[in-house]
Amino acid sequence: MQQQSHRVPEQDARDRSSVRKVLAELGEGIGLITFNQPEKRNAMSVDMWDALSDILDAWVNDPQVRVVVLTGAGEKAFVSGADISQFEKSRDTAAAQVEYDRLISKGRAALKAFPRPVIARINGYCLGAGLAIAMLADIRISSNDSSFGIPAAKLGIAYGFEGVERLISLVGPAHSSALLLTGERIDAAEALRIGLVNQVVSASELNSAVDKVARGIACNAPLSVEAMKLTIRQAGLDLDDRDMRAVELAFKACFDSEDYQEGRAAFLERRQPIFRGR
Ligand code: COA
Repeated sequence: MQQQSHRVPEQDARDRSSVRKVLAELGEGIGLITFNQPEKRNAMSVDMWDALSDILDAWVNDPQVRVVVLTGAGEKAFVSGADISQFEKSRDTAAAQVEYDRLISKGRAALKAFPRPVIARINGYCLGAGLAIAMLADIRISSNDSSFGIPAAKLGIAYGFEGVERLISLVGPAHSSALLLTGERIDAAEALRIGLVNQVVSASELNSAVDKVARGIACNAPLSVEAMKLTIRQAGLDLDDRDMRAVELAFKACFDSEDYQEGRAAFLERRQPIFRGR
């Protein structure tokens, strides 16, 4: 994936004092976010959740970012879960957990609410909070040597409601129970079989597989892509929680768009459409 470095202002301030633990690059419509703590198998510290929300906040209104790819640095892990070394200080009781959850909730909310497609490029261990991050993506593409699991029961903690809910929506209650109650890891082939990931390829093919999907999305009509992501997410909510007005507006915006005219013209002229997102 050819990327240009794209710095986020809030990151600059924080990075003066430490190695950047979350990297952001932008090129050809694709924003690449890399969790960069390979010495801890990219375990997520509280600062990394903050950095993730800063990056997504900077990209949320940037039409150049048509799709986001999340990945882990190195070849061993996507994200190995929350950074357990912080638990002693910041997550040692139920009361401390409430504060910990408040600190990381900004990053989780920014990811959950990101309006354009997010792809998780899974390259190794995808555990606990790492799996929660991958599950918040719209599409998961994994190398065949990756493994997946929720070891909460092996640590004496519980997996949060949102993560459990998302897991059930992806793989159903039976596979969710097996993952959560045993805390055991499954391999990529099993993750594909139960619907936890969309695609499994060899490690050497991972970049090209992710690139193909990301470029395909980035070339599509942005208003259509955004409308369909919104509709998929709203369809997954309870009836009373759905924002049907937003779905309707997004639907109408497509049919009134210049891109729809361009899509029709390109089809009739047998050429590739050039979409502008308006
Ligand atoms: N938090 C903090 N540190 C972590 C970590 C995590 N989630 N996962 C790995 N690390 C650290 C290890 O402590 C080790 O540090 P050290 O080199 O200072 O000893 C380093 O990363 C390498 O880990 P190691 O266990 O030696 O690598 P491995 O390749 O044999 O195994 C894992 C990798 C991910 C399977 C294993 O580290 C693991 O089980 N991690 C915990 C996963 C977990 O419980 N996640 C849920 C947290 S809620």
